[in-house]
Amino acid sequence: MPETSPTRPTQWSKTTLCSTTFLLSLLVPVLAAVILYQLDSFDPAPLPTHEFSGQPVFIPLQNPCLLEYAERVGVGELLGPEDLAYDPKLGVIYTGCSDGWIKRVAVNESAADSVVENWVNTGGRPLGLVLEHDNDVIVADAVKGLMRVTGDGKLELLTNKAEGVEFRLTDGVDITDEGIIYFTDASSKYDIKETRWDMLEGRPYGRFMSYDPLTKETQVLVRDLYFANGVAVSPDQQFVVFCETFMRRCKRYYMQGEKRGSVENFIDNLPGTPDNVRYDGEGHYWIGLASGTSVVFYVAQRYPFVRKVMAIMEKYIGTPRTKNSGVLAVDLEGKPLAYYYDPALTLITGGIKIADHLYCGSLLKPYIIRLNLTHHPAISGTTMKS
Ligand SMILES: *[C@@H]1O[C@H](CO)[C@@H](O)[C@H](O)[C@H]1NC(C)=O
Repeated sequence: MPETSPTRPTQWSKTTLCSTTFLLSLLVPVLAAVILYQLDSFDPAPLPTHEFSGQPVFIPLQNPCLLEYAERVGVGELLGPEDLAYDPKLGVIYTGCSDGWIKRVAVNESAADSVVENWVNTGGRPLGLVLEHDNDVIVADAVKGLMRVTGDGKLELLTNKAEGVEFRLTDGVDITDEGIIYFTDASSKYDIKETRWDMLEGRPYGRFMSYDPLTKETQVLVRDLYFANGVAVSPDQQFVVFCETFMRRCKRYYMQGEKRGSVENFIDNLPGTPDNVRYDGEGHYWIGLASGTSVVFYVAQRYPFVRKVMAIMEKYIGTPRTKNSGVLAVDLEGKPLAYYYDPALTLITGGIKIADHLYCGSLLKPYIIRLNLTHHPAISGTTMKS
C-alpha cells in the first residue's frame, strides 16, 4: 500500500514549516522596519556636503594613548566638566559640571592632591566659561543663556534671545581684550539632552553672536550653523574662531581689518566633531573632538535616510557612540599639528594647556583628564588605532 509510508508526509511538512518560519523571521522585522520608517514623522534634511573639501586633514604628530597615560583630577567631584578656564592669579581651573555647579579646581603637582571647591550653581548646565576682567566669569549656560558670575559669586543673566528667537543651547564663549563677548547658541530647536536629534535632523539651527556689556546689545553675526559650538578669539584680536560641530569644521569671523565682518573656513574635514576651542598663549589652538571618525558618521552626513534609520534606532534601541575622541592642536592659521586621543574615549569636549600639562574636559567622565605633554608627546608615524 503506497500511502502507508508514514515518514514522507511528516518530513515534507517539517521542511515547509522550517522554511516558512525562516521566511517569517526575515520578513517580520523587515516589514516592521519599513512600517516604522513610513510612519515616523522625523524628517532629516540633506547637509551641504558639497562644501566638504574631501581631503582628510594630515596630522603630523599623534598620541593615541590619551586616556592610558593620563592622570585624573577631582575624581568623583567633577561630573561632566565640559569647558575649562584657567585663572593664573588664583591658580585655579573653573569648570562647569552637569549638576549645575561651576567648580574651582586648585591644581596641584600631584593630581590626586588637587582641591575641588563648589563655587556657584547656575541652576542650569554651565558649558563655555571665560574670565572677564579680573574676577568675573562669563558663562554660556546651555539652559539659562549667557550669564555673568561676579567674583563674589552673584549670578546675572546677560542675554537669552536674539532677533526674537530664544536660545535653546547656549554653548561656547570667549571675550576680546576690549571686553566684547563672542558666543554661540548651538541650536534654537534642540536642548542639551537632544543634541543627537539636532545632528540627525541636519538643519542649521545654530547662531554665532556678540554681546556688548556696555550697550547690552546682542547681535547675530552668523546664522544657519550646523550646531555652533566652541569660540576662541585670536591672540592678535583680528578674528574669532568658532566650531560648527556637525559639519566637522571651524570657521573664523573677522572682527577687524579689510575682511571685517566676513567669514571663512579656519579648518575643515576634521577627524571628528569639534566642540570647544581654546588658545594657549603659545601659538596653538586646542580643539576638542567630541567624537572621532567613523564610517557610519560619514555615511549619515551624506544620506538623510540613513539618519532617519538612525533616529528610529535611537528611539527604540539606542545607537553606539563613536570612539577616538581627543584634542587636536592646530597653529595660528588652523594647520593641524598634533592629535592626542584614545580609542577608549568618547565626548571629550576640549583641552587647555597649563605649563607641561594638557587638561581635558568631557561630558561623561567624573573627572578632568590631565596629560604631561613633555612626558607623553605626540610622535610622527603613528597610525589611527580603531
Ligand atoms: C612632565 O614630565 C617631564 C618629563 O618626564 C618632567 O620633567 C616634568 O617634571 C613633568 N611635569 C610635571 C609638572 O610633572
